[in-house]
Amino acid sequence: MRTPIMAGNWKMVKTEAEAVDFTKKLVPLVKDIKDRQVIIFPNFTCLSKVCDITCPTNIGLGGQNLHWEDQGAFTGEVSAKMLKGVGCKFVLIGHSERRQYFGETDETVNKKLLKALAEKLSPVVCVGETLTQREAGKTMKVVETQIKGAIKGIATEDWDNIIIAYEPVWAIGTGKTATPEQAQEVHAAIRKMLPKEVAEKTRILYGGSVKPENVKALMTQPDIDGGLVGGASLKVDSFEQLIKF
Ligand code: PGA
Repeated sequence: MRTPIMAGNWKMVKTEAEAVDFTKKLVPLVKDIKDRQVIIFPNFTCLSKVCDITCPTNIGLGGQNLHWEDQGAFTGEVSAKMLKGVGCKFVLIGHSERRQYFGETDETVNKKLLKALAEKLSPVVCVGETLTQREAGKTMKVVETQIKGAIKGIATEDWDNIIIAYEPVWAIGTGKTATPEQAQEVHAAIRKMLPKEVAEKTRILYGGSVKPENVKALMTQPDIDGGLVGGASLKVDSFEQLIKF
């Protein structure tokens, strides 16, 4: 009932030429895939050229961030309309690196989510605890605060487009993956935090050192509906293996 998603978050990696080269190689490898959704999140400067390649295909394209205003004096920011203008259908919101290094809060995550939905972009809302929070037994509380903060004011019909990503901060880029059981426990808890009428249909992705060696064990957990992958999405062959897990 929930189509799995494999999403590549390229972060601040790849020039436009590198992104184009990668995408050209990826297209034929995934063209026949129908039972899962593939999405890539290149940096802003690559989106337009990458869209020329992906937009006629089954590969979805997304931005890594957006601002909640339509336009104005917000140097360095990008609006939802701008993302749509270069072919994006998706957008990452509240990635832990944005929360950690760029002052993203539950409040700004909520504003961005509302704007993305108003503009018909599908948001991938990221939540997750730090190692200190996990060790203090606060994982569920932290995740619940992030989820509740993010989804304030969301209408039931908006849930058709919302994707959640659980990304424990201690597992991102560290090589330390959550065990399938640890991830499943939080995913099941997140599903319970969502409004009842949408909980079963909402896709919840796992992110944090997903790689070809651990993808199957994670993705076969009942409440894990796909992956949000950084490092292992940067090479075509490993991303292909993840998509075809
Ligand atoms: P990672 O990153 O796969 O390199 O751990 C995941 C993410 O930050 O989305």
